[in-house]
Amino acid sequence: TSPFAPRHLLSIENLSSAELTTLVRNAHQYKQAIKSGSVPKSLLGALAGKTVAMTFNKLSTRTRVSCEGAVATLGGHPMFLSKADIQLGVNESLYDTAVVVSSMVSAWFARVGPHSDIVEIAKNSTVPVINALSDAFHPMQTIADFLTIHEAFQSSRTRERSPTPGLGLEGLKIAWVGDANNVLYDLAIAAGKLGVDLAVATPRGYGIPAGIRDIIQKSGTDARVQGKLLESNVPEEAIKDADILVTDTWVSMGQESEKEKRLKAFSGFQITSALAERGGAKPGWKFMHCLPRHPEEVSDDVFYNPSRSLVFTEAENRLWSAIAVLEGFVVNGGKII
Ligand code: CP
Ligand code: NVA
Repeated sequence: TSPFAPRHLLSIENLSSAELTTLVRNAHQYKQAIKSGSVPKSLLGALAGKTVAMTFNKLSTRTRVSCEGAVATLGGHPMFLSKADIQLGVNESLYDTAVVVSSMVSAWFARVGPHSDIVEIAKNSTVPVINALSDAFHPMQTIADFLTIHEAFQSSRTRERSPTPGLGLEGLKIAWVGDANNVLYDLAIAAGKLGVDLAVATPRGYGIPAGIRDIIQKSGTDARVQGKLLESNVPEEAIKDADILVTDTWVSMGQESEKEKRLKAFSGFQITSALAERGGAKPGWKFMHCLPRHPEEVSDDVFYNPSRSLVFTEAENRLWSAIAVLEGFVVNGGKII
């Protein structure tokens, strides 16, 4: 790569532990400032006169709304291009599209199928490319998730501990019950980097692929305390002493033809209050889900329980984290400070 190559965000793996912490802290700070009516000076007009491309090969509610909103907050123009709008992948190669689009914009959010597509786009783009979901990773979701966890757990924990330069989440335990997928993989990388333990329960045959497990285990080695990864096929085992229960759809976009088979394979993995109790989650356990949600993976009594479920704050936090990412990767040219 040339010294002038832009810095891309394709996975949480691209961030150090310290940078991930900084993005979450910045997002938290911008959320408070903007919600109380003042856009920080460093953000005001920071993308004025600039265009940010948003090519989405799959449907999206949260990612589209948060990324478009974040670009607008910084004074830029978000240019949304669905797969029905552009030639990408249909009538034109990834290489040609990458060269052409990046010659006219300042940054590029891309939602793709295979992760190799966004790697190819980034390799040939002259501007920062930010992953808006691929079949392997979802970094924008993970940053919002740790903003949500930081807000929900940090204050009670720092009362017990001395202030730390990190997020103060070391020793927290997340249980992921359901399908091992893109959302899980970046969550796992981040958990390792932030000293958060993660127990994953999937049905047999639906666990973390070996190549991804390697990435997860290697990427937490720069952490002050690396979070532990535990894997099992028994939901109750993962849930034991967990502070947070998390799941996602059992049928990700692109897997629609496997729906029937998957629903059968995942039976018994629905997160319910009864399962949390049987598994021995911590008394104050919380629930998270990146959305969109389907009733099979989590019952209404958990999903809509205001004292357990963080899901709607988690969704809103996509906006605040997108602002922090744009500042670091686009406004500041890849310096996360
Ligand atoms: N969580 C998430 O990325 O949702 P969308 O697919 O609606 O963007
Ligand atoms: N795992 C889901 C996440 C959607 C935001 C999917 O890839 O469809």
